[in-house]
Amino acid sequence: NDMLSWQGPAFHFYPGKNWMNDPNGPVYYKGWYHLFYQYSPEAAVWGPIVWGHAVSKDMVHWRHLPIAMERDQWYDVNGVWTGSATILPNNKLVVLYTGSTNESVQVQNVAYPANPSDPLLVSWVKDSANPVLSPPHGIGYKDFRDPTTAWLTPQGKWRMVIGSKVNKTGIALLYDTEDFINYELQIGWLHDVSGTGMWECVDFYPVSKNESGLDTGVYGPDVKHVLKASMDDDRCDYYAIGTYNPVIGKWIPDDPKIDVGIGLRYDYGIYYASKTFYDQHKKRRILWSWIKETDSEKTDIKRGWASLMAVPRTVALDPATGSNLIQWPIEEFDKLRSNLKEFNEVRLEPGSLIPLNVGPTSQLDILVEFELDKKASNKLSVGGGVPYNCAGHGGAGVRDALGPFGLLVLANKNLTEHTPAYFYIAKGKKGELSTFFCIDQSRSSIAEDVDKSIYGSTVPVLKGEKLSMRILVDHSIVEGYAQGGRTCVTSRVYPTEAINGDAQVFLFNNATNVTVVATAKIWQMGLSSRNESGWVWLGP
Ligand code: FRU
Repeated sequence: NDMLSWQGPAFHFYPGKNWMNDPNGPVYYKGWYHLFYQYSPEAAVWGPIVWGHAVSKDMVHWRHLPIAMERDQWYDVNGVWTGSATILPNNKLVVLYTGSTNESVQVQNVAYPANPSDPLLVSWVKDSANPVLSPPHGIGYKDFRDPTTAWLTPQGKWRMVIGSKVNKTGIALLYDTEDFINYELQIGWLHDVSGTGMWECVDFYPVSKNESGLDTGVYGPDVKHVLKASMDDDRCDYYAIGTYNPVIGKWIPDDPKIDVGIGLRYDYGIYYASKTFYDQHKKRRILWSWIKETDSEKTDIKRGWASLMAVPRTVALDPATGSNLIQWPIEEFDKLRSNLKEFNEVRLEPGSLIPLNVGPTSQLDILVEFELDKKASNKLSVGGGVPYNCAGHGGAGVRDALGPFGLLVLANKNLTEHTPAYFYIAKGKKGELSTFFCIDQSRSSIAEDVDKSIYGSTVPVLKGEKLSMRILVDHSIVEGYAQGGRTCVTSRVYPTEAINGDAQVFLFNNATNVTVVATAKIWQMGLSSRNESGWVWLGP
């Protein structure tokens, strides 16, 4: 098992053993950040799910607590599934979650802290009225799950969303309640998109160009609403920005061409079943998400654990474009930085590969800016060929006029293993430029049972902006943020040789027609041992 033990992350949250999936009920309560999560306590594979629980003062150092909710009622004996927390005005906490019943029917249940004055919220009670909601008429009994955080309507009722589908149309059902026990299904749906299939883990929240985060019930003239769904069909988290009308209970996308499920994604890598919460302590909205394994189940079992959480990110409307979100690692992670190494104006001639001497390199935070020769785009013939996309274009090794160029991380000396994160500039039919941000896993590992796809998408670049990327490297996770977080890509990789002190970082430029000048800041990231202080395993 030694061979696999290093794969444990240093600064990504994970339960240490067995299986984890969705983040559940994230909330800030009496000075502590709480993270609950879908946990299978008996094996490193999905199975009978309960709610795991951990608390933190900063979302960096965690303390593991006993299982918060077990499968102990007929209405959740097949699984205590995903749910959300809501803070009521008198700081009373209520959780709504999906139970899979003894007959595998998906129902919604309510739970409360057994002792509200315990800031650690160790014990939970389930309401005797459970289940409080069963699948309504016309909805399949296995297509009704993952209630959102509730918010107050102008009419003074609590409102929340549950994901579902009708035939192949993904839908978001809207419910109102006054007491969390009795619910009224609102006529029509908050929204639906045909052809997208089951909507899991729906999330719905306000954003504004003027604010870094808004509490869930806020609405008004400067406020947009984000609707997000996790698509069971392709296992990706899609969002869209639109306008919510609280009177008729409808949300309308700003651009129907990029509606939920057919347009933007939080992350173009491995990132699913995410959930946001409003952090009233620091007045920001925070996004948690599950990074699942992309190796074989056999290897997961051997390793004894599966899955981690992505680094929590602030999520906000991009004030510069107004048409996409910006995601960024919460500032608390900056505290883990040390040993800054700076590389100023490194010239990357076409075809160059330059090692960066940063010491042991499996835990890094990297910021790089790239400047291109101003006349470079003239050297690019007008498109007309196959439109570029990261996955279908051969990855980092291909050589075209204006890309790819970027970084290699988790690279061993002879490059039998390396994970490139790069930009590629393509010219469209009318001569317009578009920039892509990609992570290429095809040579990330010599292991054979692991996913090696190439991830990525376009990233908006505004006039006068340099190209920039931030890359977090944590042994076997690479999180990439381009242009300040407009486009994100998370990769779960499994190097076998490019590990610990043998992992190196390179700058590369595989463009044929342009010299790129790169300026990089690279920090080592701390919390090297998963059992360092703060990582206390208290059960089960
Ligand atoms: C998403 C999901 C949810 C469900 C939970 C079960 O990954 O399938 O829809 O509530 O996981 O573990």
